[in-house]
Amino acid sequence: MNITLSVIKADIGGYVGHSESHPDVIAKGEECIAKAKKDGLLVDYHVTKCGDDLQLIMTHQQGENSEKIHKLAWDTFVDCTEVAKKLKLHGAGQDLLADAFSGNVKGMGPGVAEMEFEERVAETIIIFMADKTSSGAWNMPLYKIFADPFNTIGLVIADNMHQGFSFEVQDIKEHKQITFNAPDEIYDLLVFIGAPSRFMIKSVYHRGSGEIAAVSSTQRLALIAGRYVGKDDPVCIVRSQGQFPAVGEVLEPFALPLLVEGWMRGSHHGPLMPVSIKDSTPTRFDGPPRVVALGFQLSGGKLVGPRDMLADKSFDNARQQASDIADFMRAHGPFEPHRLPLEEMEYTTMPQVMKKVEGRFVDLD
Ligand code: F6R
Ligand code: MG
Ligand code: MG
Repeated sequence: MNITLSVIKADIGGYVGHSESHPDVIAKGEECIAKAKKDGLLVDYHVTKCGDDLQLIMTHQQGENSEKIHKLAWDTFVDCTEVAKKLKLHGAGQDLLADAFSGNVKGMGPGVAEMEFEERVAETIIIFMADKTSSGAWNMPLYKIFADPFNTIGLVIADNMHQGFSFEVQDIKEHKQITFNAPDEIYDLLVFIGAPSRFMIKSVYHRGSGEIAAVSSTQRLALIAGRYVGKDDPVCIVRSQGQFPAVGEVLEPFALPLLVEGWMRGSHHGPLMPVSIKDSTPTRFDGPPRVVALGFQLSGGKLVGPRDMLADKSFDNARQQASDIADFMRAHGPFEPHRLPLEEMEYTTMPQVMKKVEGRFVDLD
């Protein structure tokens, strides 16, 4: 049976500040999505949060980019924004960049990751969600999961994975896309994806079967709106087990609290801390950035789960390391490389300050 898994998310108001989602907003989201299931549009759903982002996880048979599904998500975010406004939550409706829905939520602010596939006998799915960072945060983990034998031993010793995976990479500044095959082209691939503020892995395919293996949200809110409107806070869906990496191989990259863009005012580098849903509450300097992972088994499109995968004790060291790295990075204050390079900062006063002092610059020679 063909099933589509859609994860659509938006920050439509934070509680308190940008640190968490309000339970009434999540309850409203649940109410809207439950109705769609009752009406037969959805097979199943799970509504959750990561930090200040409302996450709609939905299964259905409408295919990718379905107007009905996207409209459901948009209308849900609009209804939840009403709740956020009543509670005077911070930044109510901040990710809804358009006045009215026009066919597809892509380019309108919310983040979207969707994949359609034929459900396997056992369909293991991991959904990653991050807060206070941008879409490029998935580049290193996806590379490790699907191309790095030091992470995924299955690439070396499992016959059904030995051919490798192909990576669809988007240049989000030039709006172009290219595909690289791993392992053959990993050096070429890394030249691009090692620069995650511009080149982002959109999807990954199993080379032997052509099956979709992973898909991420690659919107850059700032590029859509032409101004700072909050970090992308991306999501990513990964299929696991069998011909795909095992659950442990999929989660392993998050044992390293890698440095990502985001954190305070979307203008800093900081460690990506793996946490449970409950602990996705970025509070210290509005961070450090968080990643959560929900695991499901699909059964006829029904979401059996979730299991809160990064809650496991084996990620305690990574959390401690992330806190230590946060201390170290914070000690740099307003200096790079804690502060992002000028062109990547989401907030800046440079144009105004430059204008003010322009006349005081003297030529060096
Ligand atoms: C980062 C983030 C926060 C805000 C900061 C200022 O992604 O959301 O760090 O940038 O709290 O928020 P405003 O400008 O909404 O007062
Ligand atoms: Mg926010
Ligand atoms: Mg957020």
